Amino acid sequence: MKNYNKYARSYFMPPKTSMKWMEKEYVTKAPKWCSVDLRDGNQALIVPMNLAEKLEYFQLLVDLGFKEIEVGFPAASETEFTFLRTLIEQDLIPADVTVQVLTQSREHIIRKTFDALQGVRKAVVHLYNSTSVAQREQVFKKSKEEIIQIAVSGAELLTSCAAETEGDFTFQYSPESFTGTEIDFALDICNQVLDVWKPGVDNEVIINLPATVSLSMPHVYASQIEYMSEHLKYREHVILSIHPHNDRGTGVADAELGMLAGADRVEGTLFGNGERTGNVDIVTLALNLYSHGIDPELNFERIPDVLKVYERITKMKVPERHPYGGELVFTAFSGSHQDAIAKGIKWREDNAEPYWNVPYLLIDPTDIGREYEGDIIRINSQSGKGGIAYILEQTYGLDLPIQMRESFGYRVKSISDHLHKELGSAEIYTIFEQEYINLNKPIQFIDYSFKSGEQFETMIEVKKDGVIHEFTGIGNGRLDAISQVIQSQLNISYSNLLYKEHALGTGSDSKAVSYVGITNESGTIYWGCGIDVDIMTSSIKALFSAVNKLILDQ
Ligand code: KIV
Ligand code: ZN
Repeated sequence: MKNYNKYARSYFMPPKTSMKWMEKEYVTKAPKWCSVDLRDGNQALIVPMNLAEKLEYFQLLVDLGFKEIEVGFPAASETEFTFLRTLIEQDLIPADVTVQVLTQSREHIIRKTFDALQGVRKAVVHLYNSTSVAQREQVFKKSKEEIIQIAVSGAELLTSCAAETEGDFTFQYSPESFTGTEIDFALDICNQVLDVWKPGVDNEVIINLPATVSLSMPHVYASQIEYMSEHLKYREHVILSIHPHNDRGTGVADAELGMLAGADRVEGTLFGNGERTGNVDIVTLALNLYSHGIDPELNFERIPDVLKVYERITKMKVPERHPYGGELVFTAFSGSHQDAIAKGIKWREDNAEPYWNVPYLLIDPTDIGREYEGDIIRINSQSGKGGIAYILEQTYGLDLPIQMRESFGYRVKSISDHLHKELGSAEIYTIFEQEYINLNKPIQFIDYSFKSGEQFETMIEVKKDGVIHEFTGIGNGRLDAISQVIQSQLNISYSNLLYKEHALGTGSDSKAVSYVGITNESGTIYWGCGIDVDIMTSSIKALFSAVNKLILDQ
C-alpha cells in the first residue's frame, strides 16, 4: 500500500502517569448503561425508524433493563420531536427510566429542545460541541477560546432553560471529537462547563468523552479517560461517561479499558449499530461482564428475540460471527471441537461443576436463550464422529458403540461432502435410520422362539426372495444361537460379534435399542441397529440389519 505515509497518528497521548488502569484485571461492576440506539443508531439507518417503530424499540430497551435511553434530537426533526412528546404525553416512560436528548450548543436548538421536554418526569439534556484540532481548524475556523465560549454559553443556557421548564433535569456535556482534541484542551473545556453547572450532591453532571472517531489503540483511549478522570474538577459529583465508536474495530476494547480507567457510564447500542462502523456494542459489553461472573444489569436471556426485533426494525443484519448474537457463534463444525464440547458438557453433568468451563464455549448458550441442538454442533464434511454421535445421543437418545460412531461418522461426512451442504440433526437421524435400523432386505426377520437347556435351541422364521423359511439351530446364548442359524442356513460367514444395548426413552413408551457389529473375512465391520419394545427382539433385528448390510455388500 504505497500511500501509508499519507497517515500520521492524530491523537494526543496524555502524560504516561495515566496508566494505572493497566494494573486492574477486570471490570468488577456494570457501568450505568445508556442506549443511543434511537439517536446515533437511528440516524445511521438507511431507512430511519418511524414513530411506531421508535415506540416499539423504546419498549424493547425498557424491557432489557436500560435505565437511560437517548431518544434523539427533538429540535432537529419533526419525528423526533413528536416521538418525545408521545412518550411524555402518553406516560410511556417508566418511573425508573430517564430519557436523554441531544442538543448542539446553539440557542434556538436548545430552546426548542426544552419545548419538547416540557412536563417530562426526568431527563438528561446532552449538550455538545466539537473540540478537535481538525474540526476547529477546518470546519468551524475558530480559536480555542471561541470553542470554549460556545460550550460555556450553551451550558449557561441549559441552566436557565431548565429553571423555566417543568421536569427534573441532569446535564451532560460532550467535547465531540474528543479523541482528536489535545488532552489538556479537552480537560479545560470540560472544567469550564463544570464551573457553570457546579456539580454537587443533588446535582450530578455527566461528562461524556466520545471516541467520535477511534483514532488510537485502546490503551491510548484508556489513558486519556484516566487522565480526565483524575483531573476533572468536582470529580466525585461527575459521572464520567464514554461513547466509543468502532472505526478501528476496537469499540469494545476501548470501552472495557475505558471502564478500567475510571468510566462510570457507557453509551452504546444493541449489536453495535450506529454511524459508520457503529457505536460500541452493549450486548457484547454486557455479556462479556456476564462471562466473568459479573451481573451486567441488563437482561439478555432471550437474545434470539432481541435479535428478531432489532433486525426487523433497523433492517440491519447481525453478522453470523457477531459475538453472542450471531447465528454461528456457538456452533462447532470441527470434529475435535465438537468432541471436546460434547465431553465438556458431559463432564459438567457428571461432576456438578459450579463454574462454566466447557472447552470452546465462552458461556452456556442456554443462558441467553440459544439452544444446544443445532446451535452447538453442526455437521459438515469437516465435522467429526464425536459431534455426530453427540447429536444422535442428545436429540434422539441413541448412544452408539465407539466403533460404530466411527463408521457412521465417515458415512455422514461423505454425504455432506457429496451434497456440499451442512446437515441438520433430522437429516443425520434419517441417514442413520436408513443405513442401520431394522433393515429387512434381502432377508426379512419375522419371528423367533427358544428352548433353553444346556445350550439355547432356537427356531427363526425369515422371508427371503418372497419365500418364508423356518430354520433351527443351537448356540451358547440366545443371540449366538440365532447367529449360528443365520450363518449355517443362509450360507454367510462372519466373526467377532460386537454388541451393545440400552433403553430408549423412559416409562411405558420406552423401547430397547441394540447395536450389533459383525466382521467379514476381509476384516470389514458391518453394523446394524434394532429397535423394538422387546429387548431380545431388538437385538435380533440389529443382527439381521448387520447381516443384510453384509449381504448387500458382497
Ligand atoms: O460520537 C459522538 O461524538 C457523539 C456525540 C454527540 C457525543 O455522538
Ligand atoms: Zn456518537
